[in-house]
Amino acid sequence: MSRPVRVFPVAAGALALSLALTLTACDGGVHGTPGGAGRHDPYFPKAGNGGYDVSHYGLTLAYDPGTRHLTGTAVITARATQDLTAFDLDLKGLDVGAVTVEGRDARWNRAGQELTIRPHDDLKKGETFSTTVRYSGTPETITDPDGSKEGWLRTADGALALGEPVGSMAWFPGDDHPSDKASYDITVTVPKGLQVVSNGELKSETTDGDRTAFVWHSAEPMASYLATVVIGHYTITRSTTSDGLPVYVAVDPTQVAASKKVLAKIPEIIEWEQYNFGPYPFSSTGAIVNRPGDSGYALETQNRPVFPGVPDTDILVHELAHQWYGDSVTPKTWRDMWLNEGFATYAEWLWDEDHGGRTAQQTFDKYYATPTDDSTLWGFPPANPPGAMYISNPPVYHRGAMVLQKIRQTVGDDRFYDIIQGWTAAHRHGTADTAEFTAYVEKMAPGKDFSGIWKDWLYGDGKPDHQ
Ligand code: TRP
Ligand code: ZN
Repeated sequence: MSRPVRVFPVAAGALALSLALTLTACDGGVHGTPGGAGRHDPYFPKAGNGGYDVSHYGLTLAYDPGTRHLTGTAVITARATQDLTAFDLDLKGLDVGAVTVEGRDARWNRAGQELTIRPHDDLKKGETFSTTVRYSGTPETITDPDGSKEGWLRTADGALALGEPVGSMAWFPGDDHPSDKASYDITVTVPKGLQVVSNGELKSETTDGDRTAFVWHSAEPMASYLATVVIGHYTITRSTTSDGLPVYVAVDPTQVAASKKVLAKIPEIIEWEQYNFGPYPFSSTGAIVNRPGDSGYALETQNRPVFPGVPDTDILVHELAHQWYGDSVTPKTWRDMWLNEGFATYAEWLWDEDHGGRTAQQTFDKYYATPTDDSTLWGFPPANPPGAMYISNPPVYHRGAMVLQKIRQTVGDDRFYDIIQGWTAAHRHGTADTAEFTAYVEKMAPGKDFSGIWKDWLYGDGKPDHQ
């Protein structure tokens, strides 16, 4: 049995220790160092970890809404991107019972959200290794810098896990940063009579005595902030789109009647989005509708977004558009958030334009008419929120969408659709940042000058003086 051992002395000693580890390791001919506590995100510097990339999470969980007790085993397959003497996982709250790396007991230590693991044997750059973490406890609800709640949320009859931007660490240990995507197998055992809905496809549902285990599989890469689990009573509807894509919709029984009509639009919305954005990137789609107040917002959880109560068509279009913009093409850091929200908002503008509402240009004009001194809209540029608490504020959404309309004005409709579809193809199941986006637009429209758009609309402070 391994016990928690303090691997690292406190902060001031960390440098000295990492030096010591390096020197010790060098004696054995391996130049390993600890991977480090973060991925240098400009807004969440401790989110994610250095030195490795995860390819797969196997999560086996059991939860009882009565006691709010979670037990979990996470089997994490990762590849070392440097020689490693130690590496971190993100985990907030919960008690760690045991950690093994490549089947051998590992030493570990916790400080804040960092679970630092020192494997029995050093890991070589390029090596694929498996880490198993056993843990349990009452998972926490996390309050974000902007005051919104994520992590593990209690609902009337169960629980809801939401992870944007840093909530997955409340229910499983991992590399909690959008730049590290992986496939997932999520198994959750609950008291018989409750349902569990997660990402991907349901592979099995097995009742043994008074407990039922649900096995969900996500083959396509997923960022940790898009992983979800809901536990409770749900009315499940399965269907398919006209191209045979499975649609799995789970609705809280109190919301079924009022949400029927809007949820019936999912196949039509997906087909319209495929026409505009390119092939749907995942093996299934759907939605999860909870009670109003179960969460304070909707979230584009992969395959099936979560809604607090009955969605309207625009928010359904928005969260499903994120499956292309955010879930398949994922921001490299939280600074690139406008690549999610600007596109998903622009999808609403386009939907309205194509369905007898305002044109996107008219919506743009409506926002442009916002007075110069209104800082809600003009307070900061979409590609540079002034801090972590601003990443989901209106400039990211509406000014982000305005950038796309400026590009459309510059290149015309045909080239514009080539760009927004080509972008989802170029980075399908990957990650991208703002510089890659502007370079892509320039490459797709040779001879056009975007410098004013980037300077004034994307990165510039205040209301641009040209419409
Ligand atoms: N991404 C959600 C949407 O589609 C909004 C959201 C919820 C959000 N929680 C967040 C955005 C945390 C940034 C950070 O509208
Ligand atoms: Zn959004």
